[in-house]
Amino acid sequence: MNITLRQLKVFERVARRLSFTRAAEELYLTQPAVSMQIKQFEEAVGLPLFERLGKKIYLTRAGEELYRLSRTISQQLEEAEQIVEELKGTDAGRLVVAVASTVHYFAIRLLADFCARYPKVRVNFKVTNRKGLLHMLDDNEADIVLMGQPPDEGDLVAEPFMDNPLVVIAPPHHSLVGRTAIPLDELRREIFLMREQGSGTRSSVERFFAEKGLTITASMEMNTNGAIKQGVEVGLGLGIVSLHTVELELTTRRVVILDVESFPIMRQWYIVHRSGKRLSAAGRAFEQFVREEAGRFVRTVVPLPDAVESPAGAPASAA
Ligand code: PGA
Repeated sequence: MNITLRQLKVFERVARRLSFTRAAEELYLTQPAVSMQIKQFEEAVGLPLFERLGKKIYLTRAGEELYRLSRTISQQLEEAEQIVEELKGTDAGRLVVAVASTVHYFAIRLLADFCARYPKVRVNFKVTNRKGLLHMLDDNEADIVLMGQPPDEGDLVAEPFMDNPLVVIAPPHHSLVGRTAIPLDELRREIFLMREQGSGTRSSVERFFAEKGLTITASMEMNTNGAIKQGVEVGLGLGIVSLHTVELELTTRRVVILDVESFPIMRQWYIVHRSGKRLSAAGRAFEQFVREEAGRFVRTVVPLPDAVESPAGAPASAA
């Protein structure tokens, strides 16, 4: 069989997703390019690997066998890559770091410092929401992930490294600004801009209100923290966001933190990798760097209102 590693990789992705479109998206290829690779692969194998029934595609018997083998080959290739990266040390390693959209506000500063300290490490930096990060971990597409607490069942190694307070933000002219210890119940009268399904911030907010037995009104769903902040600023509604996303807006008073009872919702940021993953020297250096230095990159320039402190009395931000 005269097949190439590239064909194998494309085949594996199509077989995993059972979709040419999704495989193309994930591999940053056009759909015709994916179809061409699969056609050439099938020609080289001499058997059809997919069959189409209606709109869906399925693996043929040969396809299933090759899919099983292609996964083993990819794992071995990846192991070879890890060994090579390990041998390169921090002098020339490569690293894929993926972070939650909420984390990237400080992670980018952290990355700049890391790269200054290890100038030869080449970092591929990806930003997406919690759901996207869990997919990336599942598909082994990231060496290290910075995110909210991952689920227990994911076969992951996760270590908290910093507090992540979620705060209620409002435009500076809002009627609740300046009040202290606003009863949670008053939020019923407000409308909120919510992050999209799949966002960790969103699920924490939903969990929090469900635990408190309170229903809030979401007027609009927005899929970035940036859109929420701007929406709050122009008076579209209130927002509940990580303190780490609004440092700039607080300094310039484009938005204000409301002093609401039971806030902030105190979460934590975690550094995560797959449990079977053999981290390269560059990966280990990055983990160590995050553990030791992350707090330096959070500038909580405006203190939280007095009442908005963690129960232990420690400042709600880990800055
Ligand atoms: P986000 O944050 O998905 O809301 O951006 C990630 C997380 O909280 O896990």
